[in-house]
Amino acid sequence: MAFLLLLLLLLLLLLLLLLLLLTIIITSISSFSTDALTGGSSLSVENQHHFLLSPNHLFTAGFHQVGDNAYTFAVWFSDQLPTSGVPTVVWMANRDEPVNGKQSELSLGKDGNLVLIEAGHYVIWSTQTKAKLSSSVQLQLENSGNLVLDDGDRSMIWQSFDHPTDTLLPNQAFTKITQLVSSRSSTNCSSGFYKLVFDNDSILRLLYDSPDTTSLYWPDPRVATWKAGRFQYINTRRASFDSMGQFNSSDGFTFLTADFGMARQRIMRMDIDGILRVYSLVEHEKGTQWEIQWQAISHSCRIDGICGANSLCTYSQDSGRKCSCLHGFKMVNSKDWSYGCEPEFKSCIQDECGFIELRDTEFYGYDIRFHINNTLDA
Ligand SMILES: *[C@@H]1O[C@H](CO)[C@@H](O)[C@H](O)[C@H]1NC(C)=O
Ligand SMILES: *[C@@H]1O[C@H](CO)[C@@H](O)[C@H](O)[C@H]1NC(C)=O
Repeated sequence: MAFLLLLLLLLLLLLLLLLLLLTIIITSISSFSTDALTGGSSLSVENQHHFLLSPNHLFTAGFHQVGDNAYTFAVWFSDQLPTSGVPTVVWMANRDEPVNGKQSELSLGKDGNLVLIEAGHYVIWSTQTKAKLSSSVQLQLENSGNLVLDDGDRSMIWQSFDHPTDTLLPNQAFTKITQLVSSRSSTNCSSGFYKLVFDNDSILRLLYDSPDTTSLYWPDPRVATWKAGRFQYINTRRASFDSMGQFNSSDGFTFLTADFGMARQRIMRMDIDGILRVYSLVEHEKGTQWEIQWQAISHSCRIDGICGANSLCTYSQDSGRKCSCLHGFKMVNSKDWSYGCEPEFKSCIQDECGFIELRDTEFYGYDIRFHINNTLDA
């Protein structure tokens, strides 16, 4: 009997010990609040528990790895897609200047300035804001995916929705002061060359903006804007899409997504190939997946610079776009067509050079002279 009692006591003791251990573990994990960042506190790149969650848990804000020892402070969909295994990032603070994985932090000063600091001292990015009520300043991630800095009494002093990267979320206003900029490539999230902007005539356009050239390619520049259903010189410049999938722009441009109606989630993104697209999260047996529900351009050779200089873009409905170098040229960068092609020959000695015929080809952007009617011989 006494032996049994002793055993019971021992078991109880063990249980108590276990409970104690568990609470210690739990408190050490949750000692950081995921609801809001308050003035005087910070999120460290080195602590994987340092992130903010939206109340509906749909979005997460934290440090996101973009390369070897390179991090951006970002907002992403909390659920990773089973098909790709990577989170869908919707906003980045420092896409062009990722920070080191050691001693970098996002810090909210008591004065109301949100600062991203690299390796202990270098200021990489900041909101350059100042709070009126400095005691109650806080950073919160809203259910919409908007990262909001406010004075505590819900008066907003900064929001990530005013500074989009390549993605627009439902009900996020796109205005005169905002633009969507594509990523450089699928593995490099820094600013690329394709942009969605309100142009100086208040038309919503797609723009190819590389170091060498800037040109508009959507709506089709060969079609008059009024024929494309757009109104020029409208005073307001504002566009957005709602949660049902209807897009409206102040220049008259409007569309419904293919899956118009309630969908799990939608995003509009300026993609790396220069096409503006709307995606919905669609459920499959294998898991969820982003699927295209609208795109600005279907013929992807209509996009300036897409294959780079000295190259040829061919397109077919079935196989999509294909880039190739012109005869006698080779790719500059085998991983990235935007660098184009360069000559394989050194210089052109008279009788080694000639003309070859390329049928149904337009040398967009390389006109020297205009001849209405010339033969190849001429
Ligand atoms: C990403 O692209 C930028 C701009 O072209 C370049 O400066 C940077 O080195 C690239 N980063 C990587 C990791 O390749
Ligand atoms: C172009 O050339 C063809 C063949 O020489 C000729 O039949 C046609 O009339 C010309 N068109 C114009 C607009 O000059």
